[in-house]
Amino acid sequence: MENTEKKKRILSAIQPSGTFTLGNYLGALKNWIALQDEYECVYAVADLHAITVRQDPTKFKKNILEAYALLLACGIDLEKSLLFIQSHIHTHSELAWILNCYTQFGELSRMTQFKDKSLKHADNINVGLFAYPSLMAADILLYQADLVPVGEDQRQHLEITRDIAARFNGIYGEVFKIPEAYIPKIGARVMSLQDPTKKMSKSDENINSWVAVLDKPDVIIKKFKRAVTDSEAVVRYAEGKDGINNLMSIYSAVTGKTNEEIEREFDGKGYGDFKAAVGETVVDMLTPIQNRFNEYMADKQYLEECYKKCDEQALYISQKTLKKAMKKIGFVI
Ligand code: TRP
Repeated sequence: MENTEKKKRILSAIQPSGTFTLGNYLGALKNWIALQDEYECVYAVADLHAITVRQDPTKFKKNILEAYALLLACGIDLEKSLLFIQSHIHTHSELAWILNCYTQFGELSRMTQFKDKSLKHADNINVGLFAYPSLMAADILLYQADLVPVGEDQRQHLEITRDIAARFNGIYGEVFKIPEAYIPKIGARVMSLQDPTKKMSKSDENINSWVAVLDKPDVIIKKFKRAVTDSEAVVRYAEGKDGINNLMSIYSAVTGKTNEEIEREFDGKGYGDFKAAVGETVVDMLTPIQNRFNEYMADKQYLEECYKKCDEQALYISQKTLKKAMKKIGFVI
């Protein structure tokens, strides 16, 4: 991957959490794919972040490979972008340690995700969970990223990354580029199909509330059929119609149609027809991704070739930054 055209560099990563939801796809991954022409994209499977909560070894291993294959299947093109596995690149752990020493206990204590996760995993409030943002800062700063597309939940972590980088640069001179948040032009906020006031989440106990990218077509259709709506029976975008609004924004994200176009298309039709149409377009969108995913998973050798090639380049880029930082600190290198 060359940077000769001086495209801006985008960096993002996703944890291998077992399944990606339709919300992950429409809200983030679809954007990752779209950004590849305009930017130099560096993407990673953030497996080191995932062990801040306890993982079953067999499942964890499977999840990492599946996440990698699924990202490829979604359309990450290795001719244009890098897609590597975080734990394969030792510079991440190394810079994370260094950054820990330039990060204050007080500022990490203020992270809302740390507070939330401490409540959720009260029996395992480990130091990694606390230091999670400095690992994320290392991910970003090692590649001198210009832009980081992050959702609302990661905004604070990007802010602290900028603070840590500026602090380090303030002491040693320009070592790290200060990254900006990338606010996507498109990107739907997909809500739960059962409680459309809440974000779609795979940790929701009600499996009908979320669609997985790898759900079978009949399951997807069924989940949309069961989606909560309202009693007005008119397909229109309006306040108080959270369920229909959510279905409309999903339909719009998939088809590119505007709300007015959707309202016209379903004028005089009931919710049954609309839900069936949303389910079908989602199935049509996901089927080719699922097929490619199955092909990749059946060819582990190909997957290995892909990540090895990317790992090598990621190591090369990141080592330059790590060495620079270490030299400035005074390490003998
Ligand atoms: N913490 C992010 C999440 O859980 C994943 C992540 C790890 C990340 N490193 C990153 C995102 C670097 C952006 C940039 O969603």
